Amino acid sequence: MHASPALLVFHPDQWDPARAEQVKAYSRTVTPVLIPSSDPRAARYGVAGRSAVVVADIDGEVVWRHISGNGALPNPAEVDAALAEIIEAHSTPRTGWSRREFVGTVLAAAFALALEPAMTRAEAAAMATSHAAPGVARPVTLHVNGREITLAIEPRVTLLDALREYAGLTGSKKGCDHGQCGACTVHVDGRRVLSCLTLAMAAQGKQVTTIEGLDDPMQQAFISHDGFQCGYCTPGQIMSATAVVREPWGPTDDDVREAMSGNICRCGAYVGIVEAIQQVRHGGAAGPQ
Ligand code: FES
Ligand code: FES
Repeated sequence: MHASPALLVFHPDQWDPARAEQVKAYSRTVTPVLIPSSDPRAARYGVAGRSAVVVADIDGEVVWRHISGNGALPNPAEVDAALAEIIEAHSTPRTGWSRREFVGTVLAAAFALALEPAMTRAEAAAMATSHAAPGVARPVTLHVNGREITLAIEPRVTLLDALREYAGLTGSKKGCDHGQCGACTVHVDGRRVLSCLTLAMAAQGKQVTTIEGLDDPMQQAFISHDGFQCGYCTPGQIMSATAVVREPWGPTDDDVREAMSGNICRCGAYVGIVEAIQQVRHGGAAGPQ
């Protein structure tokens, strides 16, 4: 049997059974190996106690990985692309291997145990090259919700994708991805920005706050005034609303509507949203319960 590319999925001990089904979608060519993150192998990969997906090549070198802060799974297309890259690299006249030969192969446990990666090949390359070419991942350090996180990402990755897809912070929503809906609003150095229009690299050295890191009376005010229905727009609405309180807008409801005009709510919860913001701005009592 040929050694095969490795697809390792590290997961919490208590795991939604549906997730095991989801990881089957990662690849049509390689069988994912599920490993509890309490297993000693997780420590070898630097992901003890965390959720992570790792792709390693047939030489045992880790070429791609996704580490999640909250259990968010990576995009299956990215995983499959990483595997396809390995298979392509070894489908040479020298080996004569084909993509089909990898179908259904199962990783040998000894192979996985032999690996002790600290970072992926892409991460290592990025570390070694301060002016990496476009398309090459490089380390980007962000300060998010009071914590420093370093991600290996391409220069083109937006702050929104860095937060959602790489850091596992999915509270910021992707509505339009074109700067038109406000669902992705976060704070950078205390000012609201559209994270879908902001490159992650541009946020280096700045303080990023997402809805996960917010502790503000506005959150209770939205609940008290029914400032949401489905909730999809709500993280962006609240991040904008807390910024509006600090911005020099006029005192009326119309001023609030103008200030919040960049945040779209498809459910039409605008009445409650304006009430919530006005309550916080003017320090009023909680609204209808
Ligand atoms: Fe950023 Fe819509 S997702 S503005
Ligand atoms: Fe549903 Fe705003 S609450 S989109």
